[in-house]
Amino acid sequence: MAPKWRELADRLAAQIHRGDFATGQRLPHIRDLVAAGEGSKATVHAAYKALEAQGLVTSSRGHGTIVRPHGPARPIHLVGKQVVLREFTRDDVTDVLAIIGDDAVTTWLSFDSRDRVQAVAMIEGTLERARQEPRTEFYLGVTKRDDDRVIGFARIGLSGVQAGKLGYAITPKEWGRGYATDAAHALVTYAFRELGLHRVSAAIGPDNTASVAVVQQLGFTREGVLRDHVFTNGAWRDSVLFSVLADEWSW
Ligand SMILES: CC(C)(COP(=O)(O)OP(=O)(O)OC[C@H]1O[C@@H](n2cnc3c(N)ncnc32)[C@H](O)[C@@H]1OP(=O)(O)O)[C@@H](O)C(=O)NCCC(=O)NCCS
Repeated sequence: MAPKWRELADRLAAQIHRGDFATGQRLPHIRDLVAAGEGSKATVHAAYKALEAQGLVTSSRGHGTIVRPHGPARPIHLVGKQVVLREFTRDDVTDVLAIIGDDAVTTWLSFDSRDRVQAVAMIEGTLERARQEPRTEFYLGVTKRDDDRVIGFARIGLSGVQAGKLGYAITPKEWGRGYATDAAHALVTYAFRELGLHRVSAAIGPDNTASVAVVQQLGFTREGVLRDHVFTNGAWRDSVLFSVLADEWSW
């Protein structure tokens, strides 16, 4: 059984995610939760410390425990023909793990398979970077239109002059249904239309036929080979570079 402070911390974290406590709002005073029977002073204190460690609250002497901004300032929600792209939430961990923890996926990516702790860190990292102004990373969860569970991700990271690098992955049991193509189309359209990009590129492993098919369907042009571009699965690997320019894009 989880210790009492952990149960309290988890319950409060869920309330913060649900929006029961707004950003900038103060959590109840420790003595009020003690009086409400939530546990001893030490229990409530430990729960608040755990929320602080998760980055959900900040506490300072005299000001109490205050809810931190925990999502992007302007959350993005893109609707494609088949999929929706949305900001990650901390509740997506299990679904994210089914993608980045699966060798069938990561064998094609530039990193090795990750465990649950690393999946949590990945989500925390995307949320942290999504809050930055100006925002330079658009790393979004892909869901089906009628189901909010994350089945993949699509990402554009800004680099260079009005340029972005595209990446994506879909959980293996959903491969071959057009989801990656639709997600990439929605994100690249957003990048050209809303972010004013001029160029989007994708660096793909030479043997990654499915990913090459995705960018080719979207009208990307093959530019050439990046030699020893990534170190993955214990070895250096080339990438084939594809790109599309704003005036070539079919909206
Ligand atoms: C690449 C990936 C995202 C594609 O996802 P998906 O949702 O299956 O993609 P789509 O269904 O939109 O399109 C896949 C295309 O590849 C084709 N394809 C799939 N597997 C293939 C294979 N083994 N050989 C040839 N073509 C293949 C499909 O037929 C389809 O093309 P079509 O629409 O012309 O028939 C998915 O395979 C994946 O997550 N791979 C691992 C991660 C990865 O490689 N990410 C990209 C890194 S650059």
